[in-house]
Amino acid sequence: MSNGWEESAEAWISTIGVEGDFARRFVLDRPMLDRARLSEAKTVLDVGCGEGRFCRLLSAWGLITTGIDPAESLIRKARQLHPEGEYCAVGAELLPFEDQSFDLVVAYMSLIDIPDLAKAIGEMTRVLRSGGHLLIANLNSFYSASNPTGWREAEDGTNSFLIDHYLEERSDWIGWGELRVQNWHRPLGTYMALLLGNNLQLRYFDEPPPHGGNAQQIDLFRRVPSFLVMDWEKPRMPVAA
Ligand SMILES: C[S@@+](CC[C@H](N)C(=O)[O-])C[C@H]1O[C@@H](n2cnc3c(N)ncnc32)[C@H](O)[C@@H]1O
Repeated sequence: MSNGWEESAEAWISTIGVEGDFARRFVLDRPMLDRARLSEAKTVLDVGCGEGRFCRLLSAWGLITTGIDPAESLIRKARQLHPEGEYCAVGAELLPFEDQSFDLVVAYMSLIDIPDLAKAIGEMTRVLRSGGHLLIANLNSFYSASNPTGWREAEDGTNSFLIDHYLEERSDWIGWGELRVQNWHRPLGTYMALLLGNNLQLRYFDEPPPHGGNAQQIDLFRRVPSFLVMDWEKPRMPVAA
């Protein structure tokens, strides 16, 4: 069954534009690029790459990038915008790569879109080399627990943000503009248990604040828990005696 991304591909491409939306431009790109640079990676897999914007940013530094995404229209757009890049129309649950193929695996706002997260994190870990990094930007679980209500306006005109049923994993159809896609809410503990269960080690955690944009957007982002960035390292193999 479709999760809406193929049908929403055109709307997503125009939402993201060349520079990315508010969240990417003013909140997430900076820490994601900083961590990617610190990893000293040469080869990168971007899981759920969409139309390939983050691959293009990394590729501009000389990194060798591969992007995967099950939405064929997004992969077609990525190839068109970056003909020298490697892109593949597959999901994260079964990655067509050898073990330990990449120095860095990125999941930039895609974990909330992946139905079988356990398989996907297992696959991302498998294709990561020992000593490599899994870099994640994701919707904060406190935010996804607001689906599908989110912000609501009271009779007196004040806005509040409803978080409910936090511990219940679920998928909801959410929409903004012309987009309509399925997102998964999972408590933060579910993500942590899967990442720790794959023996990954947390090296960095942040809930980055906005560093620019208009005052109204900044205020909304500062009021609710929106995003998190995590950098996990795959331990090096124990050296044989
Ligand atoms: C919010 S978009 C993020 C796109 C891109 N990473 C970015 O930040 O601009 C989520 C992406 O996850 C992709 N996605 C959905 N299901 C997936 C799956 N099973 N495996 C990998 N990616 C998936 C969608 O097609 C979509 O491109």
